Amino acid sequence: KQIRPLIAGNWKMNGLKSALAEATAIRDALTTDPGAPEVMICPPATLLAPLADLTQGSPLAVGAQDCHAAPSGAHTGDISAEMLRDTGATAVIVGHSERRADHGEIDRIVLGKATAAHRAGLTAIVCIGETRGQREAGLTLDVVGRQLAASLPEGAGDTNTVVAYEPVWAIGTGLTPSNDDVAEVHALIRRDLEARFGAAGSRIRILYGGSVKPTNARELLALPNVNGALVGGASLKAADFLAIVRAT
Ligand code: G3H
Repeated sequence: KQIRPLIAGNWKMNGLKSALAEATAIRDALTTDPGAPEVMICPPATLLAPLADLTQGSPLAVGAQDCHAAPSGAHTGDISAEMLRDTGATAVIVGHSERRADHGEIDRIVLGKATAAHRAGLTAIVCIGETRGQREAGLTLDVVGRQLAASLPEGAGDTNTVVAYEPVWAIGTGLTPSNDDVAEVHALIRRDLEARFGAAGSRIRILYGGSVKPTNARELLALPNVNGALVGGASLKAADFLAIVRAT
């Protein structure tokens, strides 16, 4: 069966309440055609609850950008997956390279967060990807394979897990890998998912992320095993994000 693509916008640390107008424009432009992709916005935590209220009953889903591994407790400043779920969010990004770099999140921590997402009934969007140095050293497939194996929980399947391949050097730089390079990495991820999770692994969505724009979305989204996109900068403006949604 055909895998329904997912276009997810990661707003990162951008967006005051005024940004809800962009989300409203996105919501109002979406259709419920059976062929339409699933569309999600992952705003900063401060906007989760108002965005979930705005999008209730609409085709626009809401995701968070991070969670703590524990359900509750003495963790000042952190937010649990259960709390995210309580806002109305249905997914959470874990292991984004910016969190791996800024907060020392190694695979074991990402695994704990993905496990927490599943425990809370959230879809875990698990991010993996090589740095520029790793690509130049020919280590891309090793690095991606290792991160995938170590970051995905045992209970992962197509209903609770999405993998996002984001080459670190392509994020926010305007650079993207060649089509062949994207297809090669996505094929490796697919092979590993099928080897570990069987039929469910063949249905887990694999998103590409890193400088996806209206101008390159169509060709990236047409590549084999590319089941959608995780969009940063271009998700902040409704017109650009909707152009990417329409490129599926
Ligand atoms: O999560 C999104 C990615 O990090 C991509 O960001 O589209 O601004 O390159 P970007």
